[in-house]
Amino acid sequence: MSSNSIDSLLSESRRFPPDPQFAAHAIATPELYERAKADRLSFWAEQARELHWSTPFTQTLDWSDAPFARWFADGTLNVAYNCLDRHVLAGKGDRVALHWEGEPGDTRTLTYAQLTAEVKRAANLLTARGIREGDRVAIYLPVVPEAVVAMLAIARIGAVHSVVFGGFSAESLRARIEDAQAKLVITADGGWRKGRVFPLKPAVDAALAAGDASTVERVLVVRRGGNDVDWVEGRDLWWHEELAPMDAEHVAQPFPAENPLFILYTSGTTGRPKGILHTSGGYLTHVAYTHRNVFDLHAETDVYWCTADVGWITGHSYVVYGPLANGATQVLYEGTPDTPHPGRWWELIQKYGVTIFYTAPTAIRSFMKLGDDIPRSFDLSSLRVLGSVGEPINPEAWVWFREVIGGGRTPIVDTWWQTETGGIMVSALPGITSLKPGSAQVPLPGISIDVLGEDGAPVPRGSGGLLVVTEPWPGMLRGVWGDPERYRETYWERFGDKYFAGDGARFDEDGDLWLLGRVDDVLNVSGHRLSTAEIESALVSHPWVAEAAVVGASDETTGQAVVAFVIIKVAEADVATAEEAARALRAHVAEQIGAIARPRQVYVVSELPKTRSGKIMRRLLRDVAEGREIGDTTTLADTSVMQIISDRLR
Ligand code: WTA
Repeated sequence: MSSNSIDSLLSESRRFPPDPQFAAHAIATPELYERAKADRLSFWAEQARELHWSTPFTQTLDWSDAPFARWFADGTLNVAYNCLDRHVLAGKGDRVALHWEGEPGDTRTLTYAQLTAEVKRAANLLTARGIREGDRVAIYLPVVPEAVVAMLAIARIGAVHSVVFGGFSAESLRARIEDAQAKLVITADGGWRKGRVFPLKPAVDAALAAGDASTVERVLVVRRGGNDVDWVEGRDLWWHEELAPMDAEHVAQPFPAENPLFILYTSGTTGRPKGILHTSGGYLTHVAYTHRNVFDLHAETDVYWCTADVGWITGHSYVVYGPLANGATQVLYEGTPDTPHPGRWWELIQKYGVTIFYTAPTAIRSFMKLGDDIPRSFDLSSLRVLGSVGEPINPEAWVWFREVIGGGRTPIVDTWWQTETGGIMVSALPGITSLKPGSAQVPLPGISIDVLGEDGAPVPRGSGGLLVVTEPWPGMLRGVWGDPERYRETYWERFGDKYFAGDGARFDEDGDLWLLGRVDDVLNVSGHRLSTAEIESALVSHPWVAEAAVVGASDETTGQAVVAFVIIKVAEADVATAEEAARALRAHVAEQIGAIARPRQVYVVSELPKTRSGKIMRRLLRDVAEGREIGDTTTLADTSVMQIISDRLR
């Protein structure tokens, strides 16, 4: 990247100051910033002391072996005890922990007392089946209560879970099981998705048959789908049969704060899965603190819902560990947003009186595409805080989210973080921050963020650069499983003592942070840096556009050129031909950002290639834009999409 700044600023000027009523009862106070600033480490120690420590720590941070951090290292605690027993012991056993809803509409409610008992029995089961401290257990489940129970039971006995998203293939599962050398796999016969049972157990069978997943001794199978499954005698065990005779008493042993808690695989630049390692005390401190303050959690009265699958980091930090550490009541939903009808999510918000709702921009934009009538036919008045995560949220989607879902009242927290950071790093704090649609806003108290140029020097406000975290933080990854070198290389080589996040960003004149997408998604057109996110935002701000994806295609003259793929809103489809639309949108981008950002091509398409987690696979679009053969499409949610797109462009 050149040292040129991104001169194009988003033309967003709307501001939403906090409602004084809300601010009066807000959990976060401006004083948090001051305390963190005055003494960062004491601030974190204070947050850590909100947890239950079996042995109190005396040292907050040991950074002597940087970049391998140790937080609260001489303290001991039990993560599951913190998420369960202590709430029951405090008299909150009757509080609902999970309002679970299956896709077909079946429901289960688990109070803290019930969840604690389940986890104790599961912990006894794991121990009976030979799982010990430090052993790895793979989880491959739908979003059912057993997923939460399994994670906490593994944590309770000091073992390490590796949750693999249920939408991943047998091959991805195999690679992850092998890399972690898991001893046990917990799966289900199948789960409900889009009105049908999708089988999971066959993928486990295939994963264990192929390659060398020989470390796996047992497979525990939760009955959920009711579908027929093959059975390997001596290896496969039904979860419910095994659990039934187990004792519901189990005394949680404390483990050192740096005891590994989980591995979560994320894609890197090579095909090999990268196992991000998180440990116990620091991670739990970070997710509990952020969950409480960012979502303004009033645990006695709030009903919280994060729509993430437990297979992603958001599901780990903001479905399992953060909310349960804080004693929250939450909704857990198995299925897809549009089954059996496109208002399903809004129906659930109405049914459970959800007050805090945390989801992803992709979902928001797809609802936006369906129009306002669907959400408007439900009572969403219980909502008081909305959150967004995973990708930059364009101002139009932000404003729609606030107006149509949040009734024009709710603060929106746009939370920037990563699998690697463990918890939220940059976000508004509701009740304090004056909100700016499209900006992730400010580093949380205790977190130090900077934006650097190629040369490692901070860039001036208003200029784009590379996002770094300049000080260690409690929830930070402790390494890449089995590969310390890859950890150093990926995150620390670039700037030495600063964590390199791989994202482009810019602080605006007010000191608010704008995320510009992964640096591999940052384009260089004639020596000017542009971000795909920025151009997409401009495209989506046009009334015709429902969704847009932008890639940089190599160009003889300009280095890279902007190529856009857009979905035009159904209602506007007959407004223009594809050619007219392309012309209008090229002009619109030029007008919004500057001539330099004008797309070389705008292709009108009916679908965009997305992973099962909803991220657009720009790599594939780049292949199309550059006339190459399309690369590996196996991680697409719908593998036929690329065929449709290339046929359309032929
Ligand atoms: C992107 C998800 C803009 C970013 C928690 C990051 C975001 C990557 C935001 C991590 C946001 C996440 N605004 N971009 N609010 N949140 N990202 O590991 O590029 O699945 O590096 O973690 O998502 O994705 P991951």
